[in-house]
Amino acid sequence: MPIGQAEISARFTDRFGHFPNWIVRAPGRVNLIGEHTDYNDGFVLPMAIDRAVWIALRPRDDRIVSVYSIDYDETGEFSLDALQRQQAGWIEYLKGTAWSLQEAGHRLTGWDGVLAGDVPLGAGLSSSAALEMAAARALAATGELPWEPAEMAKLGQRAENQWVGVNCGIMDQLISAAGRAGNALLIDCRSLQTEPVPLPRGTSVVVLDTSTRRGLVDSAYNERRRQCEEAARLLDVHALRDATIERLERSAGKMDPAVLRRARHVIAENDRTLLAADAMRRGDAVELGRLMHQSHRSLRDDYEVSSDALNAMVECASVHRSCFGARMTGAGFGGCAVALVRAEATDDFVRDTAAAYQRKTGHSPAVYVCQAADGAEVM
Ligand code: GLA
Repeated sequence: MPIGQAEISARFTDRFGHFPNWIVRAPGRVNLIGEHTDYNDGFVLPMAIDRAVWIALRPRDDRIVSVYSIDYDETGEFSLDALQRQQAGWIEYLKGTAWSLQEAGHRLTGWDGVLAGDVPLGAGLSSSAALEMAAARALAATGELPWEPAEMAKLGQRAENQWVGVNCGIMDQLISAAGRAGNALLIDCRSLQTEPVPLPRGTSVVVLDTSTRRGLVDSAYNERRRQCEEAARLLDVHALRDATIERLERSAGKMDPAVLRRARHVIAENDRTLLAADAMRRGDAVELGRLMHQSHRSLRDDYEVSSDALNAMVECASVHRSCFGARMTGAGFGGCAVALVRAEATDDFVRDTAAAYQRKTGHSPAVYVCQAADGAEVM
């Protein structure tokens, strides 16, 4: 169900009998290109999407944070003075973010909130980063903290790594914190500098959910990270960001073949991401699409994080006459593909691709035509 400012405000008012003091939102994301590069200090090119987590809130005099989730129809509560980790659950993302902000020395205060979101869960569109950045926005509003997107993204990533226990890079939190409407963001994951890059005129971005999910994503993800670190060690560079294909070729003999393939993906993907940003600055959708295709093949064959369903979706999308390019997006193994499509033919593309995918795999896909949205904000 799509959710927005009016609805979250009305639900808050129903519950508390007055308007909220603040409404915050933080978006999910789709990555156009630059996959599995963020934890190699590399480049990524994601956009924030028009699906978000919303919180309406009012301050409290004490140090309790109490939040009612519309989606789960339950209240989660914790004291900022006694943060304790529990089993998985949506409240852990808020608690973890509060923990991370306090660890960084921020002085927080309590609040009551009503929360809802329309970022599909578990699809690879960063619903958890959206929740962390919405929590950070809410905590920053009540605690009167300045909003520094890169700082807050790092604290959100720390919550995800150390509280939730998922070893992600910086991309998802940073794009949720710093996204720009109508633009993707070229992010340098070493300096955390961001540069808005406009989407080519006359194109639309379509997210194609394979409706498949795979377990063990975390262990495969951690294995890839280890292999990248090993490659960097063998190449004698700080991170794969600092390596070149020539250097890799010279060292190929001393590398395990799988480690070599992983490094080849990351090094080439960094180059592709910078080329993709150039293509976007020129408005060159054809070149951007070509780079997206290459990225998919590299993720499939060298990084080995695609899946049959993702490959089928990308094939069904790519053969459509209005598609510039398509690739798997996010961590992989299931979840979503992203396609760049001629805007005037978007409806045809969506209909034909969904039908072809369903015929081919038997799965019913979900499709989201996405607008590039602003990052986390107080409304
Ligand atoms: C997940 C992680 C990101 C990034 C991508 C792969 O989304 O959360 O940090 O590593 O996978 O590009």
